[in-house]
Amino acid sequence: MAEELISLAKLNAASKALEFINDAEIIGVGTGSTVEKFIQVLTDRKKDFRDRIFVASSIDTVLKLSEAGFRVEKTMSLKSIDVYVDGADEVDPELNMIKGGGAALTLEKILAYYSLRRVFIVDYRKLVKELGTNHFIPIEVLPKALGMIINKLRNLGYEVRLRYPLGGKYGPVISDVGGVIVDVFPEGGIKDPIKVDAELKSLPGVIGTGLFIKLADHVIVGYADRAEVLKP
Ligand code: A5P
Repeated sequence: MAEELISLAKLNAASKALEFINDAEIIGVGTGSTVEKFIQVLTDRKKDFRDRIFVASSIDTVLKLSEAGFRVEKTMSLKSIDVYVDGADEVDPELNMIKGGGAALTLEKILAYYSLRRVFIVDYRKLVKELGTNHFIPIEVLPKALGMIINKLRNLGYEVRLRYPLGGKYGPVISDVGGVIVDVFPEGGIKDPIKVDAELKSLPGVIGTGLFIKLADHVIVGYADRAEVLKP
């Protein structure tokens, strides 16, 4: 039952997002289970969106959009994106977020940054008073720097875990852009996300962090019976 309510909450957030893409020619699409619902609602309204150009933040999303019959372009051929729609792992009251639970953080951040409008769709469980409440910070790391970065992070007081796949591969999770995913657990939570993000990004070899600061123009929060739009 709880699963069904959460699924409904995701669907309500995803459906509401359609209102934000009506005028968009180029639409960026993120990754994850809430985005999956978004692709589902897009597919249900295919005739309205079949002429649009889509770009995706992951191989998974490229495959899902192409299988549904949408036109997916390579990110490198675009100068900017009209609107970006993605999920999030945590959202704080200022609409800063943690992302990367699905290992797609680097391309997600690139697409969000270069989009004219950024819309995030989450179910109500993702709202937190402070980032780090329920979720660690994923970071993406250049493989050659892995050992040194892990050692440095531990010296800085972070708990660090290399992320491993649930099966089908030996060794850590490698992202779609070739980085290793490392999950970082700040001791005592994330009191100042901007400072933590700056510290993590300052380490040579860190490709990107899952802290998304000031990158949301709208966050749509889905509940089982409705969706609410938050603005910073
Ligand atoms: C992918 O790496 C993530 O950033 C997702 O956007 C995030 O994990 C949210 O995913 P769900 O919608 O599946 O919760």
